Formats: sequence, C-alpha cells, structure tokens
Amino acid sequence: MRRSIVRLAVDSVHRRRLVERIVRVDHAGELGADRIYAGQMAVLDKNSSLGDIIKKMWDEEKEHLATMEKLVAKHSVPPTIFAPIFSCAAFALGASTALLGKETAMACTVAVEELIGRHYNDQIKELINDDPEVHKELLHTLIRLRDEELEHHDTGVFHDGPKAPFYSYLKTAIQTGCKGAIWLSERV
Ligand SMILES: [Fe+2]
Ligand SMILES: [Fe+2]
Repeated sequence: MRRSIVRLAVDSVHRRRLVERIVRVDHAGELGADRIYAGQMAVLDKNSSLGDIIKKMWDEEKEHLATMEKLVAKHSVPPTIFAPIFSCAAFALGASTALLGKETAMACTVAVEELIGRHYNDQIKELINDDPEVHKELLHTLIRLRDEELEHHDTGVFHDGPKAPFYSYLKTAIQTGCKGAIWLSERV
C-alpha cells in the first residue's frame, strides 16, 4: 500500500515536470516565431505578395503564442529566463533574413518550422507514452499547432526557400541556434 502511494507520488512529480518542460519550451518557441515574423514584416513591403503570405503566418503565430500564454498561466509555469534575449535574437533573425530577399526570408521559415514541427512531434510521442488520456487536452493543442507549423514549412518550400543562396548552410545555422534555444528553455 505504502509502496503504491510512493509510486503514485513519483508518477505525479514526473508528469508535472514533463508538462512544465513542454509548456515552457513551447511558449519560448511561439514567442520566437512571433518575433521572427514581426522582424520580417518590419522590413518588408506590407502590400507585396510576400508581405501577404508572411502576414498570414504571423497572424497564426500570434494565436499560437496566445494559446501558449494561457497554458503557461493554467499550469503555473514560469517562462524561460532567456525570453527577452530570445525575443531580440528572433526579431533580428527575421529582419536580417527578410533584408536578404524573398528566398532567404522563406528559407528562414523552412528551417524554423521544420525543426519546430519535429519538436512538437517528439513531445506528442512523449505525452502519448506517458498517458494519452491524462494529456488529452494538451495533445489536442500540440497536434493542431504541429500541423500549422508544417503548413508554414510547406509555404516556405513552395515560395522558393530552398532556392536561397547558401540554403543548406543557412538552414543548418538557423536550426543549430534554435536547438540551443530549445535546450536552454527546457531547463531554465
Ligand atoms: Fe507557431
Ligand atoms: Fe509556424
């Protein structure tokens, strides 16, 4: 009896830490995505065809961020202490890639959204392995966000992101930076 109570307590601590880690890193990710598109829109002609495409993705990122802010409040998760630094870095990434032209702006989208889509998938698997019923609501949210990130990725590919100069180097550099941000956000 005592052992099963201890087991339940350990499971509950593990579950709490799992949800906390996922919500904190996803909040940081959505904040970063919002700032990337804000940076791109700051330097793009808002009435251009690219402006329309990026504005649509940005609107979706704003909704993702609002969703994550609700989850942060609901689960009482403190946001990562690096949030202000990530915000500035993401804005600079968005603005600089947009300054380099349409293909480079779209290459940034492809790089970021591919990594984020993969990251959401890994989290979805973790939550299912833990308990799909307990995490039903969170899973529903993450699956919806994952699907929308993958649509953003496809938009970036469709609009010539992979034709950007030095595409593979750029993609590796952006994804390496994002992985570093993910690593930090999962911990502090
Ligand atoms: Fe997003
Ligand atoms: Fe996205």
